Amino acid sequence: MADQVFVTLATTDKYAKGAMVLGKSLRNHNTSKKLVALIGPHVSEPSRAVLHKIYDEVRLVDVLDSRDAAHLAMMKRPDLGVTFTKLHCWTLTDYSKCVFMDADTLVLSNIDELFEREELSAAPDPGWPDCFNSGVFVFRPSNETYGKLITACSEGGSFDGGDQGVLNSFFSDWATADISKHLPFIYNLSSIAIYTYLPAFKQYGHDAKVVHFLGKVKPWDYSFDTASKTVKGQSHDADMHPNYLLQWWELFSSSVLALMKEEYGDQPFYSGCTEGDIHVDVGQMHLSHPPSPPMSSQERKQKWEQGQADYMGMDSFDNIEKKLDSFLK
Ligand code: UDP
Ligand code: GLC
Ligand code: MN
Repeated sequence: MADQVFVTLATTDKYAKGAMVLGKSLRNHNTSKKLVALIGPHVSEPSRAVLHKIYDEVRLVDVLDSRDAAHLAMMKRPDLGVTFTKLHCWTLTDYSKCVFMDADTLVLSNIDELFEREELSAAPDPGWPDCFNSGVFVFRPSNETYGKLITACSEGGSFDGGDQGVLNSFFSDWATADISKHLPFIYNLSSIAIYTYLPAFKQYGHDAKVVHFLGKVKPWDYSFDTASKTVKGQSHDADMHPNYLLQWWELFSSSVLALMKEEYGDQPFYSGCTEGDIHVDVGQMHLSHPPSPPMSSQERKQKWEQGQADYMGMDSFDNIEKKLDSFLK
């Protein structure tokens, strides 16, 4: 069906890198659908050129910003006002049905079956499961719906300052009206949920079809050594599963890096990739933390309860898994 497409959004070059990897992950899993990227005016020419190589259509849209500093501060994400730009996806009226995917998602298997769902289908948000997460959703483009959404933004605003708040208020019966509009969580596995309910991840995680790197720190904030195939700079407070992070970078280095080189020239500073000892991406330096002093188990418990687990150290997935295994035995 030529009128069904996957859609993503990137207003910056960093999110454009995410969109490149997402697009490649959809193609690698043989989607039969077209791919559309919405971009903002600040995306650079070389990044646009790379997106054109991966996406069937790259469409320039105006950046819409909620400028709602108060609500965004509650999420500790002042950067997310621009996610109102996502609402432009309803203007893609050349298409009858679409699946929107955040640029920080990665597809692990073919998900074309999502097009059997109706507007508005989405998976629960891990923070408040009676809300849907707007990182992956099925919708029908319509100028009328777009107009109503924009009115809703200007009249009522958004309770989180971003698109997810306004979309949940608009499609307010999602939680109760029709269970077929609840996508299984495996279509939007937020990395944050892995650690909040680890046994469930152990039980069901292998079925995941889409990983969502939800949160402040994104895969492209790290760097990757192409010689040793290792991700560098994963910090203590990053709640990201190392294997998914590695998969993102492996796809980046195997399928996107060469396309970027064609456009940017052979200077790897833009890419986040290093080769052996040559480290070029100084933009990532802020992520390397000095080693922390050892913590008492009481302090660790407190930190865990405050949502500050040491995901890359003592509380790493491997360590928790070992502990669970020892209990189960
Ligand atoms: N986005 C963007 N530019 C920005 C912030 C967000 O293009 O400066 C787009 C991008 O598609 C991104 C989505 O809006 O994936 C939602 O933002 P993000 O994924 O950072 O939110 P989270 O899922 O972490 O809450
Ligand atoms: C969320 C979603 C993201 C959305 C943002 C702002 O956490 O993951 O897709 O853009 O909130 O509402
Ligand atoms: Mn996201």
